[in-house]
Amino acid sequence: NEVKVFCPATIANLSCGFDVLGLCLDNVGDEMIVRKSAEKGVRITKIEGANLPLEAEKNVAGVALLAMLEELESNADFDPIAIGFEIEIYKHIKAGSGIGSSAASSAGAVFGANELLGNPFSRKELVKFAMQGEKLASGNAHADNVAPALLGGFTLVRSSNPLDIIKIDSPNELFATVIHPQIELKTSDARSVLKQTVSLKSAITQWGNVGGLVAGLYTQDYDLIGRSLHDEIVEPLRSVLIPGFDLIKQSAYENGALGSGISGSGPSIFALSRGKETAEKIAKGMSAVYDKMNLPYEIHVCKV
Ligand code: HSE
Repeated sequence: NEVKVFCPATIANLSCGFDVLGLCLDNVGDEMIVRKSAEKGVRITKIEGANLPLEAEKNVAGVALLAMLEELESNADFDPIAIGFEIEIYKHIKAGSGIGSSAASSAGAVFGANELLGNPFSRKELVKFAMQGEKLASGNAHADNVAPALLGGFTLVRSSNPLDIIKIDSPNELFATVIHPQIELKTSDARSVLKQTVSLKSAITQWGNVGGLVAGLYTQDYDLIGRSLHDEIVEPLRSVLIPGFDLIKQSAYENGALGSGISGSGPSIFALSRGKETAEKIAKGMSAVYDKMNLPYEIHVCKV
């Protein structure tokens, strides 16, 4: 009657794929306990590790799960009276870190409840509900964090309306290094600095890179992955909000990264590399940059 869920952190955008590409980290995430309850609706009974609202309607996990319950209630096979859940949330991913803190909670809640109900929804179908949590958190229902959190590996959101998610298998030796300078950057603020239009020239560069990155992932072509990890649309506008961004990126390349950029809406910065050894070397280099700046940080090396 209860499940313990690991709710993974994710890296959205991956440079060229703003709002469409994302990947799942294997060893960074929250924990959540989802329990069936006799009482209808959603109750969040405990939150540890973050100061977040317990009211279901104000909490991303609650909102995502309520969206799922609403759909179930319109389904004749389910007795709505019998459907209620309690959630305990143990946050390890900091809010405003750029590695999908709200997505982890939204995805974890619907994943856990779906398991307890015998999986009436596919993982792809769950994305739609989890996106409602993202809408609450940032004002925008993007799926590029919740999709990899629910499906694992890399995902491409080909379309969000109607929803069309494609799971892309990760190349065997691909690793991510992610450094989080300990400042909070709200996704809504990081979205407010963006321009609403792009030039045709930039668009051509960007979709060339997105195509190249996806092709590189499918063919395990690490050089092509590296050549494609660029973003001339969003990164220049957001990177100014991140302390030491250029130095961190430079250090990642010097230590062998295939590519490096802003993780999600920042302030975390990611680098992708071939092999764990290189990913760890990059982590050392990045750490040295922030050590020198006297800036506290958290750093992770993950298989993707
Ligand atoms: N694609 C979103 C953004 C991700 O960059 O605003 C937010 O985590």
